[in-house]
Amino acid sequence: MSERHRVTSVDQLSDSCGMQVDVGGHRIALFLIGKKVYAIGDRCTHAEASLAEGEVFDGAVECPRHGSEFDLRTGQPNSFPATRPVPVYVAEIDGSDVFVTVEPAEGEGGTA
Ligand code: FES
Repeated sequence: MSERHRVTSVDQLSDSCGMQVDVGGHRIALFLIGKKVYAIGDRCTHAEASLAEGEVFDGAVECPRHGSEFDLRTGQPNSFPATRPVPVYVAEIDGSDVFVTVEPAEGEGGTA
């Protein structure tokens, strides 16, 4: 069963700069673009660099290590060397707070 977590407040996010958060056992990179927040898996699928440290442009984040770009809406890589997508999470702004919805990580009360 998915769980909605408050992860930060909007004023802690800078436009187009990532923030790494740990939510229910998931390491997530948050990005604020305009008035919308995006949440994707923070570990690049190529060699696990933190995508929260990447540069954002045109709705994608560039991995700081080898430069693959990941679409913030779909998690799909737009360029090599990464070939696998990162997870995408539901992220919402509610008042001044930011919420992310995640499935429980394995071993944390999941029903599997
Ligand atoms: S670690 Fe991200 S592209 Fe290599």
